[in-house]
Amino acid sequence: MQDKHDKVEKVVVLAAGFGTRFYPLTKAQPKEMLPILDKPVIHYVVEEIVNSGLDKILLIVGKGKESVINYFDSHEMDDKNEDHGGMDKFPEIFYVRQKKQLGLANAINYAHKFVGTEPFVVLLGDMIYDTPKGNQVVKQLIDVYNKQKCTVIAVEKLPRDRIKDYGIIDGDKIAENLWRVKGAVEKPDPANAPSDIGIGGAYLFTSEIFDYIKALKPGRNNEYQITDAISDMAKDHKVLGYRIEGGYHHIGDKESWIKTFIEFAKKDKRFKGWLPVS
Ligand code: G1P
Repeated sequence: MQDKHDKVEKVVVLAAGFGTRFYPLTKAQPKEMLPILDKPVIHYVVEEIVNSGLDKILLIVGKGKESVINYFDSHEMDDKNEDHGGMDKFPEIFYVRQKKQLGLANAINYAHKFVGTEPFVVLLGDMIYDTPKGNQVVKQLIDVYNKQKCTVIAVEKLPRDRIKDYGIIDGDKIAENLWRVKGAVEKPDPANAPSDIGIGGAYLFTSEIFDYIKALKPGRNNEYQITDAISDMAKDHKVLGYRIEGGYHHIGDKESWIKTFIEFAKKDKRFKGWLPVS
C-alpha cells in the first residue's frame, strides 16, 4: 500500500500569465478563456485531469482572470442539465489568487499549503494535451512517478525556431522517451541552448520543489522561473524528463490557437461542412 504522502491526488492549474503573445485581445480577456469550438481552453485542461481519475484541483489565477472562476461556478446549472462538457462529474476546485504576476514559480508557490508534503501535478491553463483515451497526460506522469518516485516533467523535441519559446533541458537520454535532467534554461537563444528538448506544460513535482522555489532569484524577464527551480533541484535530486505519448496544443500564441480551432472543428462531427475550406 502507498504511504499517504506518496500518492498523487492533487493537481494545480495555473491561469496566471499576462498573455502578452495574444495582445491586444488578452488586455481584457484571459487566454485561458479563448474558445476552442464551444468550450474555453481551461475546460479541456480540467477535463484532462478528471479523465485521469483525479478530482482535487487548485486553480491559481492572476489579475483579470475572474471569468475563469465564473466559468467553473456555472457548473451548478450543469448539475441540473447533467451536462459537464465531456466530464463524468465535476471536480472539486479550489482557488487562490496570485497577488502579483511575478512568474510561474511564484504562482506555484501559492500551492504549498494545498499540497503540503505530497507529490502533485502542475498543468498550464493554456495547454491542451491530445493524449490517447485512458492514457491522459496526468496519468502518464503519475505512472512514471510510481515507478521512479521523483519529479517528472513533460518534455518534447523541438524544431530550432521554437527553442526560444520554451524552457530547455540539459540532460542525458536514459531510455526511450526518458531523460535524466541535469539542468534547464528558460527560453534560451537557440545558439546557446543546451539541447533541443523543451519543457511542456505538465509537471509532477515532489514537495522539495518548494525549497528551490523559495530560494530563487528573479530570472528571465525579471520573473521567478520554474525552469530555474527545476535546474537547481536537479543538482540535488533525481529529476526526469518524459516524452508524453500524444501531442499538445499550446494556445499561448495566435497561430497555434487558430490551427487548433480548425483542427478540432474538422474532427468534430457536429460541425461537419461548416468550415469554408476542408
Ligand atoms: C512556460 C514555461 C516554459 C515552458 C512553457 C511550456 O512558458 O516558462 O519553461 O516551456 O511554459 O508551454 P510560457 O509559455 O508561459 O511563456
